[in-house]
Amino acid sequence: MAGERGSMKIILGITGGIAAYKAAELVRLFVKRGCEVEVVMTDAATRFITPLTMQTLSGRPVRLAQWDDMAHIDLSRGSAAILVAPATADFIAKIAQGHASDLLSSLCLARDCSLFLVPAMNRQMWDNPATRRNLAQILEDGVHVVGPLEGVQACGETGMGRMAEPDEIASAVLSALSPKILSGKKFLVTAGPTLEAIDPVRVITNLSSGKMGYAVAQAALDSGAQVILVSGPTCLPPPVGVKFVPVASAREMRDAVMANVGGSDVFVGVAAVADYRVANPSSSKIKKGGTLKLELEPNPDILQEVASMENPPFCVGFAAETGNLEENARLKMKRKNVPMLVGNLAQDALGRDESEIVIFSSGAAKQLPRAAKTKLAAQLIEEIARAIS
Ligand code: C5P
Repeated sequence: MAGERGSMKIILGITGGIAAYKAAELVRLFVKRGCEVEVVMTDAATRFITPLTMQTLSGRPVRLAQWDDMAHIDLSRGSAAILVAPATADFIAKIAQGHASDLLSSLCLARDCSLFLVPAMNRQMWDNPATRRNLAQILEDGVHVVGPLEGVQACGETGMGRMAEPDEIASAVLSALSPKILSGKKFLVTAGPTLEAIDPVRVITNLSSGKMGYAVAQAALDSGAQVILVSGPTCLPPPVGVKFVPVASAREMRDAVMANVGGSDVFVGVAAVADYRVANPSSSKIKKGGTLKLELEPNPDILQEVASMENPPFCVGFAAETGNLEENARLKMKRKNVPMLVGNLAQDALGRDESEIVIFSSGAAKQLPRAAKTKLAAQLIEEIARAIS
């Protein structure tokens, strides 16, 4: 069962395929997104990746093929899902047939939660009529199947059967497990820093990593919303499933937002938009020597512009402050006329994976204790869903 959002327990089963190495990254991604991961490995899997690696990444002992008592079946109790990645052709056959010949297949047979299989095998195994039959059977039984992909395989052949990439697997699983509280809603989210040109090779920017904005976009997606993400340059991969609009300067961000805001139910401005840009950026590289004076002029305030539209979406701002959080946040809410504003202390949040936020809405202030941004984003999305329902 999914407990509090962001703290669900996932059982990750690993079977013996060369793609088993990708399971290490998968654990890391689930842990990063606030999940507890319990790893179960078949005998064959331990020949491809060590239990020690998986134990270190999951922070829990790994369960191996030998099982001593029925207590192991209890592993799946309280879990949101069992995910088997990679799932070999042999393992898929076992599930289709209802075998309970080792710990992992027993867990799958005796489960009371969702089961996700991520096939990974040679293309001829994938195309074999026996595998086709088994696959049709497990789909009919309600098992979720993620992938496979087409491409070059470990055996050197090219075709269908490559295991899906870890970020796609994590997104598919978490998205399928999240309650669809925003189904039918359209979100527009800004994220990251902006770049303001000084000359062709120099910019004014800030330390925003984009982590919070991307987490908000992901949490909205997981809750069933359609999401457009307008982002300044970051090192992050866009969440799978968003319409992604990359921009650089504040003015580009403003134009992208205004071009996409029509029909949005919610606008979340997480981007750290540069308040000023260089008035006359040089068209050639500025030579060094002496003092350099830059004249700055104000950028458009995107949030304020969206909030003052005739029929604005529900607008949520973010305010990173270095002190007087509540006072500054309330002033900003008033000035920009937004019904909800998330405050955080910049020094505690910028660039980090964790933060501590306060959600201000008319009259109320909800403090969320320090946690992963992914978890805070899921909680914020719940607040937004409540506010617009
Ligand atoms: O005024 P301040 O920058 O502190 O406000 C932060 C909020 O306003 C954020 O939601 C940010 O995305 C938005 N903002 C904006 N355009 C600007 C400056 C800030 O949309 N030029």
